[in-house]
Amino acid sequence: MKTMISKCTLDDLRLLQDIATDTYNETYSHLNTPENMNDYLENAFNANQLTKELSNEFSSFLFLYSNDILIGYLKINEGPAQTREVGENAMEIERIYVKQKYQDKGFGKTLLQTAIELAKEHNKNEIWLGVWRKNKNAIEFHKSKGFEIRGQYSIFIGDEEKENYIMVKTLK
Ligand SMILES: CC(C)(COP(=O)(O)OP(=O)(O)OC[C@H]1O[C@@H](n2cnc3c(N)ncnc32)[C@H](O)[C@@H]1OP(=O)(O)O)[C@@H](O)C(=O)NCCC(=O)NCCS
Repeated sequence: MKTMISKCTLDDLRLLQDIATDTYNETYSHLNTPENMNDYLENAFNANQLTKELSNEFSSFLFLYSNDILIGYLKINEGPAQTREVGENAMEIERIYVKQKYQDKGFGKTLLQTAIELAKEHNKNEIWLGVWRKNKNAIEFHKSKGFEIRGQYSIFIGDEEKENYIMVKTLK
């Protein structure tokens, strides 16, 4: 099995829209109304929004391929691109998604390790992410990899308020 991580550029916009939408649907569509899902997906993953995010020098999108099939992606933010201020010298993982069919095979760990290596290269001492309180699988995954809950905040998916945990891992 050949695993490869590559940087996603503006040329990959369509691929990014597809994998972002597919994985978000797989993870959350059974937990939200169709209206709220559509509202979120249209706002978060429309071409203008993703073009803006891909053009932000403080953000990076990375694609994960297994045997040349795109199976997951990662979005990391530094400095002003972070969605919240969590630590003085922190990096955010805003998105970490593996297609359902390929979960529990170590690919999430590969994406997380990639984010940690980048954070260390950039001399960060913490890595953090926001995760919906009801996303037990992701919370347990992150806990098993050394993240701890440090706080919480709310976001809206359509008209529904969702509470997210802030999870932080200290880098050594
Ligand atoms: C969360 C997610 C990225 C994890 O990726 P994955 O490929 O399924 O997980 P992996 O197979 O890489 O997990 C590997 C390790 O994590 C541990 N782990 C994974 N899920 C776990 C769980 N629910 N409870 C405890 N440990 C868990 C495994 O035991 C394994 O440990 P190891 O170090 O001994 O090998 C993936 O399931 C996913 O994309 N989920 C949907 C999207 C999502 O919720 N994203 C996170 C938003 S914050």
